[in-house]
Amino acid sequence: MSTEYVPIRVSTLRGDQKIDFDAYVKINEKYILYIKSGDSFEGERLQRLKSKKLKKMFIAPDSEQRYRTYMQKNIEMAYDKGSGKDITTRAEIIQGNQQSNAEAVMEDPGNAQAYQETKDAAGKFVQFLEQEDKSLSSILNIVNADQNIAHHGVTVSSLAVALAKKLKVQDPKQLQLLSLGALLHDFEHFQSGVAINRPIEQMTEAEVKLYKQHPQLGAQKVQDKKHFDATVIKIIAEHEEYVDGKGYPYGLVESKMDPLSVIVAPCNMVDRLITFEGVPRKDAVKRLMITAVGRYPLNYIQALGDIMSAL
Ligand SMILES: [Fe+2]
Ligand SMILES: [Fe+2]
Repeated sequence: MSTEYVPIRVSTLRGDQKIDFDAYVKINEKYILYIKSGDSFEGERLQRLKSKKLKKMFIAPDSEQRYRTYMQKNIEMAYDKGSGKDITTRAEIIQGNQQSNAEAVMEDPGNAQAYQETKDAAGKFVQFLEQEDKSLSSILNIVNADQNIAHHGVTVSSLAVALAKKLKVQDPKQLQLLSLGALLHDFEHFQSGVAINRPIEQMTEAEVKLYKQHPQLGAQKVQDKKHFDATVIKIIAEHEEYVDGKGYPYGLVESKMDPLSVIVAPCNMVDRLITFEGVPRKDAVKRLMITAVGRYPLNYIQALGDIMSAL
Protein backbone atom coordinates (compact mmCIF):
# COMPACT_ATOMS: atom_id res chain seq x y z
CA MET A 1 0.00 0.00 0.00
CA SER A 2 1.22 3.48 -0.82
CA THR A 3 2.12 5.67 2.14
CA GLU A 4 0.51 8.76 0.60
CA TYR A 5 -2.40 8.81 3.03
CA VAL A 6 -5.11 11.43 2.52
CA PRO A 7 -6.30 13.55 5.47
CA ILE A 8 -10.06 13.68 6.17
CA ARG A 9 -12.00 15.80 8.66
CA VAL A 10 -13.50 13.85 11.54
CA SER A 11 -16.46 16.27 11.47
CA THR A 12 -17.54 14.71 8.18
CA LEU A 13 -18.02 11.28 9.80
CA ARG A 14 -21.63 11.53 10.91
CA GLY A 15 -24.91 9.68 10.67
CA ASP A 16 -25.99 6.05 10.40
CA GLN A 17 -24.60 5.44 6.91
CA LYS A 18 -21.83 2.88 7.36
CA ILE A 19 -18.40 3.92 6.13
CA ASP A 20 -16.92 1.70 3.45
CA PHE A 21 -13.31 2.65 4.04
CA ASP A 22 -10.81 2.31 6.89
CA ALA A 23 -9.56 5.40 8.69
CA TYR A 24 -6.18 5.79 10.35
CA VAL A 25 -4.55 8.06 12.89
CA LYS A 26 -0.97 9.18 12.57
CA ILE A 27 1.22 8.40 15.55
CA ASN A 28 4.98 8.93 15.42
CA GLU A 29 4.92 9.12 11.62
CA LYS A 30 3.07 5.80 11.45
CA TYR A 31 -0.51 5.30 10.34
CA ILE A 32 -2.47 3.14 12.77
CA LEU A 33 -5.86 1.67 11.82
CA TYR A 34 -8.37 3.51 14.01
CA ILE A 35 -11.87 2.92 12.68
CA LYS A 36 -12.95 0.17 10.37
CA SER A 37 -15.14 0.00 7.35
CA GLY A 38 -18.67 -0.86 8.55
CA ASP A 39 -18.77 1.63 11.42
CA SER A 40 -21.23 4.52 11.62
CA PHE A 41 -21.32 7.64 13.78
CA GLU A 42 -24.66 8.67 15.19
CA GLY A 43 -25.97 9.42 18.70
CA GLU A 44 -23.77 7.89 21.36
CA ARG A 45 -21.21 6.69 18.82
CA LEU A 46 -20.83 10.27 17.63
CA GLN A 47 -20.33 11.50 21.21
CA ARG A 48 -17.65 8.87 21.69
CA LEU A 49 -15.89 9.93 18.50
CA LYS A 50 -16.13 13.61 19.46
CA SER A 51 -14.73 12.92 22.92
CA LYS A 52 -11.52 11.76 21.25
CA LYS A 53 -10.94 15.41 20.23
CA LEU A 54 -9.46 14.33 16.92
CA LYS A 55 -9.82 16.80 14.06
CA LYS A 56 -8.21 14.78 11.30
CA MET A 57 -7.85 11.16 10.36
CA PHE A 58 -6.33 9.59 7.27
CA ILE A 59 -7.50 7.24 4.58
CA ALA A 60 -5.59 5.25 2.00
CA PRO A 61 -5.48 6.91 -1.42
CA ASP A 62 -7.53 4.11 -2.99
CA SER A 63 -10.38 4.91 -0.54
CA GLU A 64 -10.65 8.53 -1.53
CA GLN A 65 -13.43 8.09 -4.05
CA ARG A 66 -15.47 5.96 -1.62
CA TYR A 67 -15.01 8.65 1.05
CA ARG A 68 -16.23 11.34 -1.33
CA THR A 69 -19.28 9.30 -2.27
CA TYR A 70 -20.01 8.66 1.42
CA MET A 71 -19.83 12.38 2.18
CA GLN A 72 -21.99 13.38 -0.75
CA LYS A 73 -24.65 10.76 0.02
CA ASN A 74 -24.67 11.85 3.65
CA ILE A 75 -25.23 15.52 2.95
CA GLU A 76 -27.83 14.94 0.23
CA MET A 77 -29.78 12.65 2.52
CA ALA A 78 -29.47 15.05 5.45
CA TYR A 79 -30.94 18.00 3.54
CA ASP A 80 -33.71 15.86 2.06
CA LYS A 81 -36.81 16.13 4.21
CA GLY A 82 -38.28 13.09 2.51
CA SER A 83 -35.28 10.82 3.06
CA GLY A 84 -37.06 8.94 5.83
CA LYS A 85 -34.20 9.59 8.26
CA ASP A 86 -34.99 11.16 11.61
CA ILE A 87 -34.22 14.83 12.19
CA THR A 88 -31.68 14.04 14.93
CA THR A 89 -29.44 12.09 12.55
CA ARG A 90 -29.93 14.60 9.75
CA ALA A 91 -29.04 17.47 12.08
CA GLU A 92 -25.90 15.65 13.22
CA ILE A 93 -24.75 15.32 9.63
CA ILE A 94 -25.61 18.95 8.79
CA GLN A 95 -23.89 20.23 11.94
CA GLY A 96 -20.80 18.19 11.06
CA ASN A 97 -20.85 19.45 7.50
CA GLN A 98 -21.09 23.07 8.64
CA GLN A 99 -18.26 22.48 11.10
CA SER A 100 -16.16 20.92 8.36
CA ASN A 101 -16.85 23.87 6.05
CA ALA A 102 -15.80 26.30 8.78
CA GLU A 103 -12.62 24.31 9.36
CA ALA A 104 -11.79 24.35 5.65
CA VAL A 105 -12.00 28.16 5.44
CA MET A 106 -10.29 28.79 8.76
CA GLU A 107 -7.41 26.49 7.88
CA ASP A 108 -6.91 27.97 4.45
CA PRO A 109 -8.59 31.40 4.14
CA GLY A 110 -6.85 32.01 0.81
CA ASN A 111 -8.78 29.14 -0.80
CA ALA A 112 -11.51 30.89 -2.79
CA GLN A 113 -13.25 27.64 -3.68
CA ALA A 114 -13.51 26.53 -0.05
CA TYR A 115 -14.96 29.94 0.81
CA GLN A 116 -17.52 29.76 -1.98
CA GLU A 117 -18.60 26.24 -1.00
CA THR A 118 -18.95 27.35 2.61
CA LYS A 119 -20.94 30.39 1.52
CA ASP A 120 -23.31 28.25 -0.57
CA ALA A 121 -23.68 25.83 2.33
CA ALA A 122 -24.47 28.74 4.67
CA GLY A 123 -27.45 29.60 2.47
CA LYS A 124 -28.65 25.99 2.55
CA PHE A 125 -28.22 25.90 6.31
CA VAL A 126 -30.44 28.99 6.69
CA GLN A 127 -33.17 27.26 4.67
CA PHE A 128 -32.88 24.15 6.82
CA LEU A 129 -33.31 26.23 9.98
CA GLU A 130 -36.22 28.14 8.50
CA GLN A 131 -38.13 25.28 7.00
CA GLU A 132 -38.06 22.58 9.63
CA ASP A 133 -39.55 22.72 13.11
CA LYS A 134 -37.04 20.68 15.03
CA SER A 135 -33.97 21.79 13.11
CA LEU A 136 -32.70 24.38 15.59
CA SER A 137 -33.18 22.24 18.69
CA SER A 138 -31.63 19.21 16.96
CA ILE A 139 -28.56 21.23 15.97
CA LEU A 140 -28.20 22.86 19.39
CA ASN A 141 -28.65 19.56 21.21
CA ILE A 142 -25.30 18.38 19.87
CA VAL A 143 -23.00 19.13 22.79
CA ASN A 144 -19.68 20.75 21.93
CA ALA A 145 -17.87 18.40 24.28
CA ASP A 146 -14.47 19.02 22.73
CA GLN A 147 -14.89 22.84 22.89
CA ASN A 148 -14.20 23.02 19.18
CA ILE A 149 -14.03 26.54 17.71
CA ALA A 150 -15.66 25.51 14.43
CA HIS A 151 -18.50 23.77 16.31
CA HIS A 152 -18.90 26.98 18.38
CA GLY A 153 -19.18 28.79 15.03
CA VAL A 154 -22.02 26.49 13.93
CA THR A 155 -23.85 27.06 17.22
CA VAL A 156 -23.49 30.85 17.05
CA SER A 157 -24.56 30.76 13.41
CA SER A 158 -27.71 28.79 14.32
CA LEU A 159 -28.60 31.13 17.18
CA ALA A 160 -27.97 34.20 15.02
CA VAL A 161 -30.31 32.97 12.28
CA ALA A 162 -32.98 32.15 14.88
CA LEU A 163 -32.59 35.59 16.46
CA ALA A 164 -32.70 37.33 13.07
CA LYS A 165 -35.92 35.50 12.30
CA LYS A 166 -37.46 36.81 15.54
CA LEU A 167 -36.31 40.32 14.56
CA LYS A 168 -38.03 39.89 11.18
CA VAL A 169 -34.89 39.94 9.06
CA GLN A 170 -36.10 38.29 5.88
CA ASP A 171 -33.67 39.06 3.08
CA PRO A 172 -32.06 35.69 2.12
CA LYS A 173 -28.78 37.38 1.13
CA GLN A 174 -28.48 39.08 4.53
CA LEU A 175 -29.34 35.84 6.32
CA GLN A 176 -26.74 33.96 4.32
CA LEU A 177 -24.02 36.51 5.20
CA LEU A 178 -25.14 36.50 8.82
CA SER A 179 -24.93 32.72 8.94
CA LEU A 180 -21.51 32.72 7.24
CA GLY A 181 -20.05 35.54 9.35
CA ALA A 182 -21.25 33.91 12.57
CA LEU A 183 -19.78 30.59 11.45
CA LEU A 184 -16.35 32.14 10.90
CA HIS A 185 -16.41 34.80 13.65
CA ASP A 186 -13.68 33.29 15.85
CA PHE A 187 -11.30 32.80 12.95
CA GLU A 188 -8.39 34.08 15.04
CA HIS A 189 -8.88 31.56 17.86
CA PHE A 190 -8.79 28.74 15.35
CA GLN A 191 -5.47 30.02 14.04
CA SER A 192 -3.80 31.00 17.31
CA GLY A 193 -4.93 28.08 19.46
CA VAL A 194 -5.25 30.30 22.58
CA ALA A 195 -6.93 28.49 25.48
CA ILE A 196 -10.21 30.36 25.55
CA ASN A 197 -12.12 27.79 27.56
CA ARG A 198 -12.29 29.78 30.78
CA PRO A 199 -13.88 33.00 31.98
CA ILE A 200 -12.02 36.15 30.93
CA GLU A 201 -11.80 37.10 34.62
CA GLN A 202 -9.46 34.15 35.12
CA MET A 203 -6.95 35.27 32.49
CA THR A 204 -3.77 37.19 33.30
CA GLU A 205 -3.50 40.83 32.22
CA ALA A 206 -1.29 39.92 29.26
CA GLU A 207 -3.69 37.17 28.20
CA VAL A 208 -6.68 39.51 28.38
CA LYS A 209 -4.86 42.07 26.26
CA LEU A 210 -4.15 39.48 23.59
CA TYR A 211 -7.62 37.98 23.88
CA LYS A 212 -9.24 41.35 23.30
CA GLN A 213 -7.40 41.72 20.01
CA HIS A 214 -8.75 38.52 18.48
CA PRO A 215 -11.58 40.09 16.44
CA GLN A 216 -9.21 42.64 14.93
CA LEU A 217 -6.39 40.17 14.28
CA GLY A 218 -8.83 37.73 12.69
CA ALA A 219 -10.30 40.38 10.41
CA GLN A 220 -6.84 41.61 9.41
CA LYS A 221 -5.85 38.16 8.23
CA VAL A 222 -8.68 38.01 5.70
CA GLN A 223 -8.91 41.69 4.77
CA ASP A 224 -6.86 41.21 1.60
CA LYS A 225 -8.75 38.13 0.42
CA LYS A 226 -10.90 39.29 -2.46
CA HIS A 227 -13.34 36.41 -2.16
CA PHE A 228 -14.25 37.34 1.43
CA ASP A 229 -17.47 39.37 1.72
CA ALA A 230 -17.03 42.74 3.45
CA THR A 231 -19.95 41.94 5.77
CA VAL A 232 -18.30 38.71 6.90
CA ILE A 233 -15.07 40.58 7.71
CA LYS A 234 -17.13 43.12 9.69
CA ILE A 235 -18.80 40.40 11.71
CA ILE A 236 -15.38 38.86 12.51
CA ALA A 237 -14.10 42.31 13.57
CA GLU A 238 -17.17 43.41 15.57
CA HIS A 239 -18.55 40.30 17.26
CA GLU A 240 -17.19 41.25 20.70
CA GLU A 241 -18.45 44.85 20.63
CA TYR A 242 -21.18 46.04 23.02
CA VAL A 243 -23.87 48.46 21.91
CA ASP A 244 -22.95 50.80 24.78
CA GLY A 245 -19.46 51.28 23.31
CA LYS A 246 -17.69 49.39 26.11
CA GLY A 247 -16.88 46.29 24.12
CA TYR A 248 -13.71 45.48 22.22
CA PRO A 249 -11.51 45.93 20.30
CA TYR A 250 -12.89 49.20 18.94
CA GLY A 251 -15.49 50.29 21.50
CA LEU A 252 -18.11 50.89 18.82
CA VAL A 253 -21.60 52.00 19.79
CA GLU A 254 -24.59 50.29 18.16
CA SER A 255 -25.04 52.89 15.41
CA LYS A 256 -21.42 52.31 14.29
CA MET A 257 -21.77 48.53 14.17
CA ASP A 258 -23.01 46.49 11.26
CA PRO A 259 -26.59 45.47 12.20
CA LEU A 260 -25.61 41.84 11.61
CA SER A 261 -22.76 42.16 14.14
CA VAL A 262 -25.32 43.44 16.67
CA ILE A 263 -27.18 40.15 16.16
CA VAL A 264 -24.09 37.91 16.34
CA ALA A 265 -22.63 39.50 19.52
CA PRO A 266 -25.20 38.27 22.10
CA CYS A 267 -25.46 34.86 20.37
CA ASN A 268 -21.70 34.51 20.69
CA MET A 269 -21.84 35.43 24.37
CA VAL A 270 -24.59 32.88 25.07
CA ASP A 271 -22.58 30.04 23.56
CA ARG A 272 -19.36 31.30 25.13
CA LEU A 273 -21.00 30.93 28.54
CA ILE A 274 -22.36 27.46 27.74
CA THR A 275 -19.45 25.93 25.84
CA PHE A 276 -16.39 27.59 27.33
CA GLU A 277 -17.48 28.69 30.80
CA GLY A 278 -19.63 25.73 31.83
CA VAL A 279 -22.86 27.68 32.45
CA PRO A 280 -25.89 25.33 32.14
CA ARG A 281 -27.86 26.02 28.96
CA LYS A 282 -31.00 26.93 30.86
CA ASP A 283 -29.16 29.62 32.84
CA ALA A 284 -27.13 31.23 30.05
CA VAL A 285 -29.60 33.93 29.00
CA LYS A 286 -30.52 34.65 32.63
CA ARG A 287 -26.81 35.24 33.23
CA LEU A 288 -26.69 37.59 30.29
CA MET A 289 -29.66 39.53 31.69
CA ILE A 290 -27.80 40.10 34.94
CA THR A 291 -24.21 40.64 33.88
CA ALA A 292 -24.56 42.02 30.38
CA VAL A 293 -27.20 44.71 30.79
CA GLY A 294 -26.60 47.46 28.26
CA ARG A 295 -24.16 45.41 26.22
CA TYR A 296 -26.81 44.07 23.88
CA PRO A 297 -30.23 45.44 22.93
CA LEU A 298 -32.68 44.28 25.61
CA ASN A 299 -35.21 42.96 23.10
CA TYR A 300 -32.45 40.83 21.53
CA ILE A 301 -31.65 39.23 24.88
CA GLN A 302 -35.34 38.65 25.52
CA ALA A 303 -35.77 37.05 22.11
CA LEU A 304 -32.76 34.80 22.81
CA GLY A 305 -34.41 33.83 26.09
CA ASP A 306 -37.53 32.80 24.16
CA ILE A 307 -35.43 30.85 21.66
CA MET A 308 -33.49 28.99 24.35
CA SER A 309 -36.54 28.13 26.46
CA ALA A 310 -38.32 26.70 23.41
CA LEU A 311 -35.51 24.20 22.69
FE1 LIG B 1 -14.74 35.89 19.86
FE1 LIG C 1 -16.96 33.24 19.78
